[in-house]
Amino acid sequence: MAGIIAPSILSADYTNLQRDVELVEKAGAQYLHIDIMDGNFVPAISYGPNWVKQLRPETDMVLDVHLMAVNPEKFVDQIAQNGADIIGVHVEATPHIYRALQMIKDQGAKAEVVINPGTPVSAIQPVLGMVDQVLVMTVNPGFGGQAFLASTVDKIVQLDTYRTMNNLHFNIEVDGGITDQTIQETYIAGANVFVSGSYVYDKKDPAAKIKKLKELTNVSVVRD
Ligand code: DX5
Ligand code: ZN
Repeated sequence: MAGIIAPSILSADYTNLQRDVELVEKAGAQYLHIDIMDGNFVPAISYGPNWVKQLRPETDMVLDVHLMAVNPEKFVDQIAQNGADIIGVHVEATPHIYRALQMIKDQGAKAEVVINPGTPVSAIQPVLGMVDQVLVMTVNPGFGGQAFLASTVDKIVQLDTYRTMNNLHFNIEVDGGITDQTIQETYIAGANVFVSGSYVYDKKDPAAKIKKLKELTNVSVVRD
């Protein structure tokens, strides 16, 4: 089965957002990735929970919210009530990751835990049994258009192995520097949800880019 492609609107044209969302939906993207940044956990400020509310009626895609904020517990209820399907919280952003994930689940949304490139899989092992998705950052979070960090791939393999050994079913998502040159490596390692921002939106023809990413994740893999 081809991978799930999650275009990141961080690289979309905000003055033509409806057009840019429709374009990727028609091209077969299944998730829409929404990066909320607080200027504190990461250097930049992007947009807030209200964007989720305004985008909800505009698309049938799964709204995949990546929350880059300190103390994410302050925001998860509102984001869920605004219509997010999946909410991702960074383990580095709160001393209470279990509580933050539980709050998301209590709201009826899918819970995702996120790890930065410098964070080992062992830091999230205690919550792997309760999440629907794990996001392995393949760049340092905060900006689009950065180069893929190959050193993160081993963590995808570790998560995939842990998932199989423990009969768990969480998705493994990757985010940062995902292009036609890097996606297959993460797919082969075990990822099945692929965020892509600048590769999809920056140049011409986002629809063709999505088709290409799908093709590259529609090969059979024999894992040993
Ligand atoms: C970065 C964000 C990403 C970003 C990815 O902190 O989490 O979702 O939009 O952009 P690209 O695909 O350009 O690396
Ligand atoms: Zn993101």
